[in-house]
Parts: sequence; C-alpha cells; structure tokens
Amino acid sequence: MMGVQVAAREVQPISGSPPDKPKLMHGGNYIKEGRDSSKSTWLLFSPERDEAGSLARFLNIFSTHGVNLSHIESRSSARRPGYEFMVECEHGAGDFGAALEDLKNNVGYLNIISRNYKDNRYFYLKGAVPWFPRRIRDLDRFANQILSYGAELDSDHPGFTDPVYRARRKYFADIAYEYKHGQPLPHVDYTMEEIGTWGVVFRKLVELYPTHACKEHNHVFPLLIENCGYREDNIPQLEDVSNFLKDCTGFTLRPVAGLLSSRDFLAGLAFRVFHSTQYIRHHSKPLYTPEPDVCHELLGHAPLFADPAFAQFSQEIGLASLGAPDDYIEKLATCFWFTVEFGLCRQDGNIKAFGAGLLSSFGELQYCLSDKPELREFEPELTGEQEYPITEYQPIYYVAESFESAKEKMIKFAQTIPRDFGVRYNPYTQSIDILDSPKQMKDLLKEVHQEMGLLLNTMDKL
Ligand SMILES: [Fe+2]
Repeated sequence: MMGVQVAAREVQPISGSPPDKPKLMHGGNYIKEGRDSSKSTWLLFSPERDEAGSLARFLNIFSTHGVNLSHIESRSSARRPGYEFMVECEHGAGDFGAALEDLKNNVGYLNIISRNYKDNRYFYLKGAVPWFPRRIRDLDRFANQILSYGAELDSDHPGFTDPVYRARRKYFADIAYEYKHGQPLPHVDYTMEEIGTWGVVFRKLVELYPTHACKEHNHVFPLLIENCGYREDNIPQLEDVSNFLKDCTGFTLRPVAGLLSSRDFLAGLAFRVFHSTQYIRHHSKPLYTPEPDVCHELLGHAPLFADPAFAQFSQEIGLASLGAPDDYIEKLATCFWFTVEFGLCRQDGNIKAFGAGLLSSFGELQYCLSDKPELREFEPELTGEQEYPITEYQPIYYVAESFESAKEKMIKFAQTIPRDFGVRYNPYTQSIDILDSPKQMKDLLKEVHQEMGLLLNTMDKL
C-alpha cells in the first residue's frame, strides 16, 4: 500500500541508517553507502580518456575547493575501458558544490550516490539522482522504511478499542516486516470472524461486477475463483494469487507492514512487484475501511495485474519514478491514484470501472457510474496536477480510452521527467539497466536488431 492512500501530499520519504559496508550490486553495479549520508557524499566517476596521472588531477580539484576525502578507491570500470574512481567527500569543510561543478566539467562519467533524500533534493539541481532499487532484492530495504506500522491505529479506526483486532494487526505487520524477497509469502490461517467479514464484502461486490467492472476484471475474476480459492467462505492466500499473477504477466505480490512512501511504492511497480496488505478490516464495519486491506488488494487490484496491457501500464509508472525528482513523484503518484486506484475506462460505448478503490467499494462502485461525479479524459500532465480528497468519494474521475492508450500517454509523459539516463527492466536478472553510456546503448541496439531479425524472419514465413 502506498502513502498516498492516507495522505498523499504530506507523505515524505524517510531515510534509514545505511549500513557500513559496500555492496556489490547485480550486474557489476556498485552502490556504496556512506556511514552517515548527511555527513558525506559518495561520488563515482571516471576520466574522459584513460591516461596516467588522472587521479592526481581529480584529487587536486577537491583540494583546491578545500573538500576532505575520507575514502579514495580506484578500480577497473564496468562501464567503459580503463579505471573509475570512488571517493567519499566529507561535508562541512570546503565548498563541495563548487568541487562538484568543477569535477563535472572534467570527467567522462559521474554518479552521485547518496541515500539521504534531503541531500538528493539539493544535489538534484547539480545532477544527482535519488537512490532507487536496482535489483528486485533491493525492495527488502523498504521494509524498514515504512511510514507507519500497520499495527498503529488512529483513535477513529473501527478496531481502535478492540484488543484482539489490534493484536491481530500486529501479527500481520510483523510477518510482513520479516519478509525477504525469495521466501514463500506468509500463509495465514484467518479466523472465522475474519472470513465472515470477507464473505460480506465478497458477496456484495460480485453482484456489481458484471455490470460495473471493466471486461478485463470480469475476464480474470472467474479464473481467480478457479485457481486461487476466491470464494465467499475463503480468504485467498497471497502466495496463490502471486503465483497466478506471475504466470499471467510476471507480476508478484509482496507483503507490506505499513504505508510506504510514494517513491518506494512506485519503485516496486518497476519490477512488477505490488506491495500488498494481508490483514482485513474490522468486522464491525465490513463495508468500510480507512486503509487498504486484503479485500481491497485481492478483489480490487489483483485481477487487473493479470492483464498484460494493464501490467505494462503499471510498470511504466514504476519505471518513470526511478530517480525522478520529488515533484514528479507526486505527479506520478497522482496519476496512479486516478488510474490504478480510481480509474474508469470506455468500453463498447459504456463507462466501466478498473480502479481498485472502486472495485473494492460497494458504495463508490455504484456512485462512480452515476451522473453525480465529473468525468474527464486521462491526460497524465493534467491528471497528475489534480487535487483529490482521500476520505470521501471522488468528485472527479479520469477516463482512459484503453490501457494501451493510457500506457502510451504515460511513456510520453515519462519522457518529460528531467533524467539524464534511461531505465530498462531486465527480466532475466530482475534488475534495472541504466542507460547512460554509448556502450550500453550500442548493446541495446544489438538486442533490438536481433529481435527485428526474428520478426522479419517470422513475417517472411507467414
Ligand atoms: Fe490500492
């Protein structure tokens, strides 16, 4: 679940205390985190040409601007022939900004590595990129970056005064917190009371799906009944649903202990990973929940992630978010809100719902197709600016012509995000390839060329 679902505009990412040791990243990419990223910044750079004495030249830049280095390392470069250097610059003494500018004018490649988001905001102006996960295993780091633990309930939460419910919420939060990529998703034995709550929601919603849900949802839903134990008297296991989605589109679920920042939540989508809650709403109000629960995730979100076009659209939002400045993260989170959460689409001349917030709400699913709300066309640059309420039905909904057209619009919008590199998901290694050097682009061109060859060859045969 994402922070925007409770307070989109207030949520800010928080930085953890990074560990001490350097980590070898998949595919030869190194990210080294400072002992305390507010006190230092790591730089990775290489000269334009490999020539003797280049390290001395670079060290001279730092010395000229009075910047102390607490770590200096040289090694053969994975990006280009020759060497690259990594240094840790201490903040405090000297003019780091000036040293950085000077360095930028004298290197062939520069990457600023920091996990401190505040630092990143400052350095973004000078070309830095906020940290983002490069391989699927990196998503484990988000577990201790949650904005609020799932066991902490507000005083107006229906389960606030119920000690049994609170203990249960803590149980769910703890198993999600302990979860690591690659493990089987935690199997949960739901209580009779919890199954009863699910049953009420399930029964009411399946009445509406044939007339209110988009055709993709109606296509997948029977398959979930057949394959994943979707029944009135059974809450499906995340593991079964995740395996089903993986077979359909490569999407997987991973449990989450509480609210994630928009940046972290969206980054998961780049890997086709959806952070899902596993607890259920309080039994006293089965048709109301102030936060996403397992009904919302499994009835609202899961069916659509089995659709290839929708899966790709969702991943495009995730890829666009990687390394994007904060204001663009907010726009992307808003686009997510008005599509994946509250989107409508036009099908055979009728308006249908595909957003999970609608498909998991008996009341709003009827309201959104009534003549009360205002409907507008989905246009990421405008939709991304729209304010919205989080505790009541939406006054405005955005309509997508199709998932395919929404995806094309998102790709175009992503091109306006100020990033001086491209990103591409590598499904073989489940990691993000960063495209920022001629060699990488040449390799990619070779791959595209091979694919084109395959296409032409097949077309000749047909
Ligand atoms: Fe959601």
